[in-house]
Amino acid sequence: MALIEIKNLSKIYRDNEIETVGLNNISLKIDEGEFVAIMGPSGSGKSTLLQILGCLDRPTSGQYLIDGKFLDNYTDNELAKIRNKKMGFVFQAFNLLPRLSVLENVKLPLIYGGYNEPERNKIAFDMIKLVGLEDRINYKTSKLSGGQKQRVAVARALANNPRVVFADEPTGNLDSKSGEIILDFFQELNDKGHTVVVVTHESYVAQSAKRIIQVRDGRIESDVLVKDRRIIKEDGLIK
Ligand SMILES: Nc1ncnc2c1ncn2[C@@H]1O[C@H](COP(=O)(O)OP(=O)(O)OP(=O)(O)O)[C@@H](O)[C@H]1O
Ligand SMILES: [Mg+2]
Repeated sequence: MALIEIKNLSKIYRDNEIETVGLNNISLKIDEGEFVAIMGPSGSGKSTLLQILGCLDRPTSGQYLIDGKFLDNYTDNELAKIRNKKMGFVFQAFNLLPRLSVLENVKLPLIYGGYNEPERNKIAFDMIKLVGLEDRINYKTSKLSGGQKQRVAVARALANNPRVVFADEPTGNLDSKSGEIILDFFQELNDKGHTVVVVTHESYVAQSAKRIIQVRDGRIESDVLVKDRRIIKEDGLIK
């Protein structure tokens, strides 16, 4: 059974009289343990797809299943529970709370994990150390640089050990060294069996993936597996 499956799914944005097609009749399965890169030109529907896959937005039509369960009739609260239990997010638009400290931001998702306060502090501290921000632990996130904020977002997304991590341009604001550190986290997480889905423009990020999905005009243009950095096409041939 796939971890996530979407079937004949479309997303139409309606703004006053104007309709924009975000996703146009997409079907796709993501299995547990995959590392998927979503690529494609600006405006092609990558962020829309990621938001739908992460239950942050609902499709206009079509179906979404997680662990074989249809979520069509779930309330917003039920979707939020699924996100908290199974998913982590590293989104540029998915804001940190500016008035809270680095530590408080990273502790937020742990509230749902059944940990007590000392455990939450310990897990959050370890994550913050991992992203190299222990000297900023009590800074409000509004006082951090773009790259530092991005690292807090990664620490927060990974703190509750989610089954699947969604990231939208996670290395976009970063110098190449910080970008590679973050990529290494994703790689390690994936090695431990977690599923990673990342939108990226950068080929070095996509090269870490095991599968590359190209999106264009709201459709899937290609969907290929990568093995030993060679691309294996759906027909099994090596490009
Ligand atoms: N909230 C919204 N309301 C109206 N239209 C939207 C909305 N969000 C996205 N769109 C439109 O849907 C299309 C796909 O947008 P999306 O953000 O998914 O693109 P993208 O591939 O992530 O682009 P980029 O690489 O620039 O981030 C675009 O034409 C965009 O203008
Ligand atoms: Mg985008």
